[in-house]
Amino acid sequence: MKRLKVGIIGAGGISHYHIEAFKKILEIDVVAISDPNETKLSFVAEKFGILKRFVNWENIIEEQLDIISICSPNAFHAQQAIAALKSGKHVICEKPVAMNTEEAKSIIETAKQVNNKFMVAFCHRFAPHSQFIKKMIDGGQMGEVYFAKASCLRRRGIPGLGTWFTTKKLAGGGPLIDIGVHILDLAVYLMGCPEPQLVVGVTYNKFKNQAVDGGWPPVWSRVGDRPTGTFDVEDLAAGFIKFKNNITLFLEASWAGNSESGLKIALMGTKYGVQYWTEAKPPLKIYGDINGVVTDATAEFPSVNVYQAEIEHFVNCVRNNTQPITTPEEILTVVKIIEGIYRSAETGKPVEIS
Ligand SMILES: NC(=O)c1ccc[n+]([C@@H]2O[C@H](COP(=O)([O-])OP(=O)(O)OC[C@H]3O[C@@H](n4cnc5c(N)ncnc54)[C@H](O)[C@@H]3O)[C@@H](O)[C@H]2O)c1
Repeated sequence: MKRLKVGIIGAGGISHYHIEAFKKILEIDVVAISDPNETKLSFVAEKFGILKRFVNWENIIEEQLDIISICSPNAFHAQQAIAALKSGKHVICEKPVAMNTEEAKSIIETAKQVNNKFMVAFCHRFAPHSQFIKKMIDGGQMGEVYFAKASCLRRRGIPGLGTWFTTKKLAGGGPLIDIGVHILDLAVYLMGCPEPQLVVGVTYNKFKNQAVDGGWPPVWSRVGDRPTGTFDVEDLAAGFIKFKNNITLFLEASWAGNSESGLKIALMGTKYGVQYWTEAKPPLKIYGDINGVVTDATAEFPSVNVYQAEIEHFVNCVRNNTQPITTPEEILTVVKIIEGIYRSAETGKPVEIS
């Protein structure tokens, strides 16, 4: 088996999870890392024994590497992914893939042209309950799936107060593009990537002045951060999405709000419905009927390190020349919907998706 060399762009909270996962895989070396924040750069490089360290991400692109993992703020994903792909690397990029459809299209087009692997790190797809639901839907056991609800709600959980997360030009938006993107992607993936037709969206910003630090990025990873105090994104967003095949999805995402919290996805099919909610015990419930009697069932799953699973999947795709789990169509659909929700919220009008 060929030894693969990996480089990491961005030495913040999520980079630790990527590096730990790569290091557990045989015949892989994480050899280079870049971050403009020198304190963070050396903190992570020392922790994991990474020898090549660069302040400018452009320098890591010039290195002889097989894989680049992009863990930088959202605004840099597109330019870094395109440069890495063009230099012959395979790329796994953190979510959201990009700030808008145009950027996402350019990445996908570049990956196609250079014929390298490109994957978005949508770790929730690798959870056992997600795969259980996917098999039920693809196997026809749920019947026709026609209505879905997806939420990712935090009561008090603003990531890094006044850091890039809460700065629109660096993040692209608030909880919708940050955490809503995970659950939207999961819904799109589970439903077989239906084509969106119409989006109605709203955003709110009610907790701006009483923002409470929500614990992400992990405190231990914030060495050298200098929060600016900027908060020009939403703290809650919701969207109503109608797809061309008449499926409907209701989506909500918050960093702060007076509601229940947790990640929830519910899908209704003509034979069965399922609901997964992190706060329920057990978290997965199946709704149906047996011989005309309305019946509920529950399911429990072993805990899985989804970051390990996603990185292993990507490495296998590189080694075996197979298509990563995130297809170009799914990647673009998710970006188009997020863009549609923000545009609809801004204009106060429904948005047709072309
Ligand atoms: N999959 C998940 O569950 C998950 C969880 C958290 C974050 N993320 C994503 O990972 C990315 C990073 O988030 P984080 O939580 O690690 O944030 P973070 O703030 O902890 O780290 C970001 C790092 O990027 C560095 N950086 C800034 N500008 C850069 C540039 N131009 N090039 C390279 N590095 C640069 C910063 O100095 C910082 O060290 C984001 O896109 C975020 O959405 C994903």
